[in-house]
Amino acid sequence: MKNGSIALMISLLVLVFSACADNTTTTNKSDKVAHDVEPEGLQLIKKNCYACHNPNTNSHDDIIAPPLIAVKNHYSRAYSSKDEFVREMTNWIVHPEEEMALMMGAVNRFNVMPSLGISKEDAKKMATYIFENELEKPKWFAAHEKEMHGGKNGQGMGGNMWKKKIALVDGKKWHSDKATFEHIQALKRIGSNANSLEQTGDFHQLAAQFSKELDNLLNDCTMEGPDHNALHKYLMPLMKKNKMLGQVKSVQRGAHILQKIQSQLEEYQNFFQE
Ligand code: HEC
Repeated sequence: MKNGSIALMISLLVLVFSACADNTTTTNKSDKVAHDVEPEGLQLIKKNCYACHNPNTNSHDDIIAPPLIAVKNHYSRAYSSKDEFVREMTNWIVHPEEEMALMMGAVNRFNVMPSLGISKEDAKKMATYIFENELEKPKWFAAHEKEMHGGKNGQGMGGNMWKKKIALVDGKKWHSDKATFEHIQALKRIGSNANSLEQTGDFHQLAAQFSKELDNLLNDCTMEGPDHNALHKYLMPLMKKNKMLGQVKSVQRGAHILQKIQSQLEEYQNFFQE
């Protein structure tokens, strides 16, 4: 993160902090009531998260972190139960770790969220609040969602939503033509042959190789109808991941995305058969 934004964040945090401290020490009754009315989860969020996840931004270009509503949408898509959602988000808040990030696009753009020293107890209150309540949306958010992700059911960057979208009916796999199967094998080989990836440029080159093979796959494909649709839904996130691989700014990030690409390639045979 840039120095400028860190300085800005710290001053924002101080501001938010002192505003809160004033409120609790004040003897003004109406102030106190207003403060008490807000659920604790929301108070904690305003105090600890809004400095970066500010819902009152003017445009998508101004932000230094995704708005919490976008974060919530990602978690809701990835986790189907409240327990899982709250557990995973609590873990994240206590211990944000790049390898565990769901929002790969956001990590690429903003860098990974820093560790904030929040207790598990507070983190759980915030995660629960986020799950249970409607969150404030920045005014640019609806238009952005529609544009980027095709409405609220979009799949963000490189997620695993495709698995839900092409779920097998009665355990029956989609039918893949031979050429596509072979291109998937070739993609796997490109991935496993890649070694001595020591610089970001190596990952960019690898992405170019994948990209060429993906083009061949698209050119040779003879699949039709629902099978073709399923293939399309499988390929879109794979291509997104590869696009990110082509732009990584750190070796660690490159290795992480490569691993996601490889595990998606491994899954092909679980959904498609010749
Ligand atoms: C210093 C800035 C900063 C603060 C403060 C901050 N975040 Fe973040 N947060 C980020 C950035 C940047 C991202 C996007 C990159 C990422 O996913 O790590 C992010 C992403 C997230 C994610 C998605 C993680 C994923 O799976 O990719 C969650 C959940 C989250 N923040 C929750 C919170 C909560 C709750 C708070 C308040 C306790 C908070 N954040 C405070 C900067 C911040």
